[in-house]
Amino acid sequence: MGRTVLVVGGGGREHALTIGLLDSPSVSTVHVAPGNAGTAGIATNHDVSASDIDAQVALAKSIGADLFVVGPEAPLVDGLSDSLRAVGIPSFGPHAAGAMLEGRKDFAKQVMLDLNIPTAGVQHLTPETDLDAAVDLWGAPWVVKRDVLAGGKGVVVTEDRDEALDFIRTSIESDGMVLMEEFLAGEEASMLVMMDESGYVALPCSQDHKRVGEGDVGLNTGGMGAYAPAPVATEAVRARAISEIVEPMHAHLSSQSTPYRGCLYVGLMIDDEGAPSVVEYNVRFGDPETQVTVPLIASDLCDLLLAVAEGRLSESMPTFSDEHAMTVVLAAEGYPGPPVKGRSISGNLSDYIDSAGRAFIHHAGTGSSDGNLISTGGRVLASTGIAASLAEARDLAYQKLSEVELEGAHFRRDIGHRAL
Ligand code: AMP
Ligand code: GLY
Repeated sequence: MGRTVLVVGGGGREHALTIGLLDSPSVSTVHVAPGNAGTAGIATNHDVSASDIDAQVALAKSIGADLFVVGPEAPLVDGLSDSLRAVGIPSFGPHAAGAMLEGRKDFAKQVMLDLNIPTAGVQHLTPETDLDAAVDLWGAPWVVKRDVLAGGKGVVVTEDRDEALDFIRTSIESDGMVLMEEFLAGEEASMLVMMDESGYVALPCSQDHKRVGEGDVGLNTGGMGAYAPAPVATEAVRARAISEIVEPMHAHLSSQSTPYRGCLYVGLMIDDEGAPSVVEYNVRFGDPETQVTVPLIASDLCDLLLAVAEGRLSESMPTFSDEHAMTVVLAAEGYPGPPVKGRSISGNLSDYIDSAGRAFIHHAGTGSSDGNLISTGGRVLASTGIAASLAEARDLAYQKLSEVELEGAHFRRDIGHRAL
């Protein structure tokens, strides 16, 4: 009898995790709450909000879950993993105190400063700060960060002094303070590190495209596409990131009374000389990074996640394939502003496999209405290609995306441009 797994969340990340878990020989059943139309097609969805902690715990008990996998950060910050562990259900995802690394940027910064981890310098701006003087001191481009979970909307990076000042003032008004950060130049990469008190493993690095427009211009989004492995993270860069960032974080988190068990997402900025610094920590898998990372795990995904949830990762280290993956997000009209929802999605969404590789659709903001597939969110779906080279993975992803229709939708045509 295989394992029963419950995945919490309803985005492309959770669809990718669901596919990976169903591919795991050790798994018999996957449940998703709340899921999307993509997970409904392959697993059992439950209409339970990711943020309803009591209902999630009750669901896990009622289906007899052997493993709980938490996708988004908010339930982790609210203590979902603590509640699950209290009733003996292994949870992949840190406890609330560990999740503060994402929930409170100021807290994360203090941990990095204490551990001497390379990261941007910072100043706290409060109602008492002379804002004009602070803005002059740091100079353009300005990086301003709210110290709250803001669903990807808490950071402004701008060369426009008035925009910076506006964001600083409105953030201080709502939160009482805001952080001004040193601007780090370089190229970004995402390093997803699985960790528990017994060990850690860094998955292949990926690169996300956060700006809405081609050439990396325009507003920040949750991510418009990603690919892995990202060549910017050379072996030498990875080795430095491991020794200067991951090792001290792992030692620190393992020494806490409740150790960190989950994915630590290290957002890296890599400068011209190959020196990595931390831009941000997230306490979960990235979205869309997961869509290009999970398919590169060759060993049983459930064995890996369960080992982390139970604190015995060192006994169950994963193996990786040497393929390349790319995913391209199809976003709704209006995104990253308020998206137009409820439009029908048509075309050929079925998987595609041939000698060049495979391509498939990761659903994100999708649902069904009267038996028709409709859009329900800003990032609607992503088309993912897996192949022996990045160029082939890209061709597969764009070919598959061209078969999907959604009125008013937009996507970037240059995903992977830095690597290709
Ligand atoms: P965060 O939510 O902290 O990841 O910030 C969102 C995006 O803003 C990052 O992915 C970077 O592209 C950019 N960013 C954040 N902090 C900095 C920084 N200190 N220097 C340059 N860019 C930054
Ligand atoms: N793709 C960025 C994130 O997951 O935070």
